[in-house]
Amino acid sequence: MKGIILAGGKGTRLYPLTIAMSKQLLPVYDKPMVYYPLSMLMLAGIREVLIISTPDALPAFRELLKDGSHWGMKFEYKEQAEPRGLADAFLVGREFIGDSPVCLILGDNIFYGEGMISLLQKCASLTEGAFIFGYRVTDPERYGIVEFDADENVISIEEKPESPKSNFAVPGIYFYDNQVVQLAEKVKPSARGEIEITDLNKLYLERGQLKVRVFGRGVAWLDAGTHDSLLQAAMFIEAIQNRQGLMISCPEEIAYRMSFINKAQLQKLGEALRGNSYGDYLLEIVEKEK
Ligand code: G1P
Repeated sequence: MKGIILAGGKGTRLYPLTIAMSKQLLPVYDKPMVYYPLSMLMLAGIREVLIISTPDALPAFRELLKDGSHWGMKFEYKEQAEPRGLADAFLVGREFIGDSPVCLILGDNIFYGEGMISLLQKCASLTEGAFIFGYRVTDPERYGIVEFDADENVISIEEKPESPKSNFAVPGIYFYDNQVVQLAEKVKPSARGEIEITDLNKLYLERGQLKVRVFGRGVAWLDAGTHDSLLQAAMFIEAIQNRQGLMISCPEEIAYRMSFINKAQLQKLGEALRGNSYGDYLLEIVEKEK
């Protein structure tokens, strides 16, 4: 399974923060926002990742994430000149995807919680069809909404419905088999001029190949798209990290714990950041596990 992080868009809801800076590179407490979705892919066991962003922002992503080898990963980069919709990621990423299944995650989606890792790893072993998730929200008209039966079979999926059929939003993480490129080609632009991921999911639903898994109440799904939600996400991360002394979505630590890198490599990463709490945290892991 390969991964795609979609980190495009203008981020206008965050202006002036995002006039000169990509939204997905803004800080969420002690890390750039993109570390959080990247960590989810890594925890799912996905090591080849394509980062899609605007031509202006892509150089900064490359500077931050490099080729990924320092984390035992392989990163590629591709431009999306205009935000043409989430499903466009599969057209932009066609060559990268090749004949592999693929997981798409949005660069501003932050997930945290018990039970997620085993669920992600299960989904990453998918070979046929698609997996989406459901997450209970109080404002369903803002999202893609999924309706399902007691056995988590999808009944319907709608994009930002005026009269939502359920309270379960579809978060920005999706797992697809290799049909996704072909199916994305069939999706026609919506009223807002985008090729919608929801329309792509409907094509899987029509084929009887769309499955949903519900994230339980112990899972946090945060969105960092407005000034308030960005600050709330940072405070959430800060509160949990400082209480437990464990980092959330630290790619260096995940790379080590997933055995993508060894202890000597982790030590090198820690030493490069020595003298601040992030580097010290990495070195502490090296020390403790001697
Ligand atoms: C997009 C999708 C929507 C999904 C949401 C998750 O919405 O179209 O189905 O629920 O991401 O963040 P957008 O952010 O484009 O409004």
